[in-house]
Amino acid sequence: MKTLISTALRYQNNRLELLDQHQLPDCERWLHCDSVEAMVAMIRKLQIRGAPLIGIGAALLLAHLAEQGWSEAQLREAAATLRDARPTAVNLMNCLDRMLAVMDQGAEALVACAENLFEEDVALCQRMSEFGAELLPQDARVLTHCNTGSLATAGAGTAIGVIAEAFRRGRLSHVWVDETRPLLQGGRLTAWEMCRLGIPHQIQCDSMAAILMRDGQVDAVLVGSDRIAANGDFANKVGTYNLAVNAHFHNIPFYVVAPWTTVDPHCPNGDAIPIEQRSAEEIKGVSGSFGEVRWSPVESEAFNPAFDVTPADLVTGWVLDTGVYDRDDIVAAIAAKSQPA
Ligand code: MRU
Repeated sequence: MKTLISTALRYQNNRLELLDQHQLPDCERWLHCDSVEAMVAMIRKLQIRGAPLIGIGAALLLAHLAEQGWSEAQLREAAATLRDARPTAVNLMNCLDRMLAVMDQGAEALVACAENLFEEDVALCQRMSEFGAELLPQDARVLTHCNTGSLATAGAGTAIGVIAEAFRRGRLSHVWVDETRPLLQGGRLTAWEMCRLGIPHQIQCDSMAAILMRDGQVDAVLVGSDRIAANGDFANKVGTYNLAVNAHFHNIPFYVVAPWTTVDPHCPNGDAIPIEQRSAEEIKGVSGSFGEVRWSPVESEAFNPAFDVTPADLVTGWVLDTGVYDRDDIVAAIAAKSQPA
């Protein structure tokens, strides 16, 4: 396979390596990934994360294993194991389905498919960034949640792609970074990306976003998605729904930014999106390059869904790589997409 390099994933000299996102921002450690078990463990631990990136990582691993001489039966079993690693992010299933469609054609076809998925994602990010940047007012102050940037995709990102493009065009003055409990993808990863991009930003606890909105400090909310259902409802990192409700109350535009690979036309609405439930330990403490801390009683139980669903009624616009859709046209656009070309 050819050399492929992104911020958090690199394939070179027949080695697949992933930037360990669990260790950021203070430690930039690359992990070698050469087995299905390693990839599944890294996805579960969120060492590789972000809906588009996990799909591409899984595809690159399958292509690599095909080049190592794995049989079609072994590769099909590997794809089935990878598919279960993160249930909400439909990009993973989409990438695996695209690999499965050429699996009977041998290693060369799988390599071409994986390379294509990587390069396609870079182009999708670029197109979303351009469409989204047009929507923002001059000197926009944008609030975002979780991490949707170059750590979560092969390219510039979805919501963060838009933020970076708007900043490059001189249209964006400030980013409010939701820290994103419980795993702090905002406070750790988005803040790291904002520093690297030189974008003025401040981190706030998720529970502080409503105050910023009330005080007129937010011109737009931009978020990513792990799955968009046929009616426009979408799943994203838990806390997104709270933001959408608050944005609606304060009359602030709320945009979801995602490529077509995140749309699931077979999923009728948000109720049908599977939501991953995660370990109580993530709520009861924190871990990272600094080690592990627990602050809650050992015997306490916790409620820890990784994602929530935002109903389409709360969305101002869907920024896809094919354009910006409002409530009136998103359903028709998704239905058209599900028809065979
Ligand atoms: O659990 P994570 O960190 O993978 O959650 C990521 C998100 O919720 C992102 O918004 C989503 O995957 C889109 S990333 C371009």
